[in-house]
Amino acid sequence: LNQITNRNPKRPPIVFHWVPFFGSAIPYGIDPYAFFHECREKYGDVFTFVCMGRKMTAYLGVKGNDFLFNGKLADLSAEEAYSHLTTPVFGKDVVYDVPNHVLMEHKKFIKSGLGFPQFRSYVPLILNEMDAFLNTSPEFGPGKEGIADLLKTMPVMTIFTASRTLQGAEVREGFDAGFADLYHDLDQGFSPINFVFPWLPLPRNRRRDRAHNIMQQTYLNIIKQRRSSPENPGSDMIWTLMNSKYRDGRNLKEHEIAGIMIALLMAGQHTSAATIMWALTLLGSKPEVIEMLYEEQKRVLGEGENFHVDFDKYKDLPLLNYVIRETLRLHPPIHSIMRKVKRDLPVPDSKMVIPAGSHLLAAPGYSATHEDFFTHAKEFCPERWGERPDDEENAEQIDYGYGLVSKGGSSPYLPFGAGRHRCIGEQFAYMHLTTIICKFVHDYTWTTVGKVPDVDYSSMVALPLAPVKIAWKRRD
Ligand code: HEM
Repeated sequence: LNQITNRNPKRPPIVFHWVPFFGSAIPYGIDPYAFFHECREKYGDVFTFVCMGRKMTAYLGVKGNDFLFNGKLADLSAEEAYSHLTTPVFGKDVVYDVPNHVLMEHKKFIKSGLGFPQFRSYVPLILNEMDAFLNTSPEFGPGKEGIADLLKTMPVMTIFTASRTLQGAEVREGFDAGFADLYHDLDQGFSPINFVFPWLPLPRNRRRDRAHNIMQQTYLNIIKQRRSSPENPGSDMIWTLMNSKYRDGRNLKEHEIAGIMIALLMAGQHTSAATIMWALTLLGSKPEVIEMLYEEQKRVLGEGENFHVDFDKYKDLPLLNYVIRETLRLHPPIHSIMRKVKRDLPVPDSKMVIPAGSHLLAAPGYSATHEDFFTHAKEFCPERWGERPDDEENAEQIDYGYGLVSKGGSSPYLPFGAGRHRCIGEQFAYMHLTTIICKFVHDYTWTTVGKVPDVDYSSMVALPLAPVKIAWKRRD
């Protein structure tokens, strides 16, 4: 009755649903943006929907983005929204299994291992991994042309390139020797079913826990091995964490380093693999942009024997930068950002209060693809960024403990979030994606087979729906 009459004026309106507990899980799960759009038409920017027993209040638009990302620590908790999902995968005493101030210190340590000197050294490693992978992959291979399924190839290529750079040679070698299965078992811990029913005794959870223990042991062995060797080359992420100290002078414990390394592996893998697949398939639908990128790289990176992929010149490749930005505008990997509401939260300029104990949800991908903010909002138009000031760059900055972070939560475009939980992998992701697209444009021309795929929202990131095929030809 409460839903039909829908009337406690102090509460956000409740989205009508027939089945209690399940609520709006099906329309939200199938296409969250279409669901948000329909609800917004009926109820406005703020509404509550029931999803598998949870009360979720969505706050759409730039005000909603700001409300969530810049909410006070005492009001909103990411730990309480995510830890049931993340702790079994990453392990104890890291990410959302620690108080926020400890996470901020961990983010500061990670940031110090993600600087330009590291990125410079990562570019050739990525190119080598790509050569080895593409030349031997049955989908690409040494031939002159072919059809490749990006869903089969890009996640593997991403894990090889990301692990070789961020995780170091030992972990990369592990992926040639059985890590892939472990990674898969661990990754299953991130299924939507684990988000909803974390306590279910599923066989996959036993496999997840086993995989976590083996991966953790692998990192512990690497740390031991490195500690026992007198040399300390000192700059990859494991070394960076081994050499980091908390404000009170303590070193990180070994299991904390292992947990952070697992978290970094998972945080970067799906997001980057999804973005690469989307970028390549969107470019394949506009081959003229691929040729413009080719011209740009010839001008900046040289051609023929003089072609050299140089990290310090990435800033001179504006079109490639716009392609990545535009891909993340249309397809930000994370469609819903959530927080647990800790105290009753008044919604500004309204009589509504979001009650403590419920969840708050923002969807920056909704504003990023809305005509209110971007003309031809659903079209892939990388050039648009050349005409647009970057409002996030102009935003006020705050130091959360891991460096100055743009406060800019009121931007419509926030694929990396904002505020204290803002992504620290953005620059790594840009370096990684730029290198990969650069090499594709240099080595191949391609077109998307059929139309650009629809979105598959069934996993935790927004992936292109199978099949995701491109027809490629090797450039002479
Ligand atoms: C946080 C997106 C790549 C590590 C986030 C958040 C978003 C995001 C939206 C904020 C989550 C929230 O507020 O609840 C992305 C995208 C990526 C990407 C779109 C690539 C295209 C990476 C990579 C790494 C990474 C490569 C690691 C090297 C992290 C970490 C956090 C984070 C540590 C902080 C979590 C927190 O403070 O709660 N990312 N990410 N991400 N990301 Fe990324």
